[in-house]
Amino acid sequence: MTVLLPQGIFIDGKTGALGEETGRFAKRLSDLKGLVADGAALERAIAERGNELVYEVIEYRKDGADMFFGTTTMQPGRVGGEYYFTRGHFHERRDRAEVYYTQSGQGMLLLQARDGTTSSVEMKPGVCAFIPPDWAHRSVNTGTEPLVFVWVGMQDAGHDYGEIAEKGLGQRVFEQGGKPAVVAA
Ligand code: F6R
Ligand code: ZN
Repeated sequence: MTVLLPQGIFIDGKTGALGEETGRFAKRLSDLKGLVADGAALERAIAERGNELVYEVIEYRKDGADMFFGTTTMQPGRVGGEYYFTRGHFHERRDRAEVYYTQSGQGMLLLQARDGTTSSVEMKPGVCAFIPPDWAHRSVNTGTEPLVFVWVGMQDAGHDYGEIAEKGLGQRVFEQGGKPAVVAA
């Protein structure tokens, strides 16, 4: 049996960098195809400013541990007035919750239960959000700086992106009069 030893990992709350990491992935504008409200605006954005980075996820996993954690760092920006967002997912395992702790920036966490019930939690430094089991979740950077949050979940939770990609979420966040507005989709 593997003996797991205690350990502290430094997390840079401004950049999302981890002192030690075991994996990462990045998503760019082209990864939001089919997800944004205005597909033509997305094509224009890619033509004008290139396939720029939208967000990056860095994780720290230990074999034999139930839990793991990491950071998501989201760049500020909008497509057709809609603030940059993550793809959004349910967890494959319906009994798996997650926690998001915002370290810097401003955002909105959009949540949706299986029956379509929607909810949202403002993301700002110091706010720790509880994502209950079987609620889809998508984060949105509504500010002008990077949005950095630490997430903690279960390694076996898995991701189900299909449902959101197909049906979308019931809420979107647009810039309206210089401020973010959560709008029913
Ligand atoms: C993991 C989790 C986050 C997201 C990340 C990117 O369960 O909720 O680490 O994976 O914020 O979002 P997605 O995975 O929706 O592209
Ligand atoms: Zn998740």
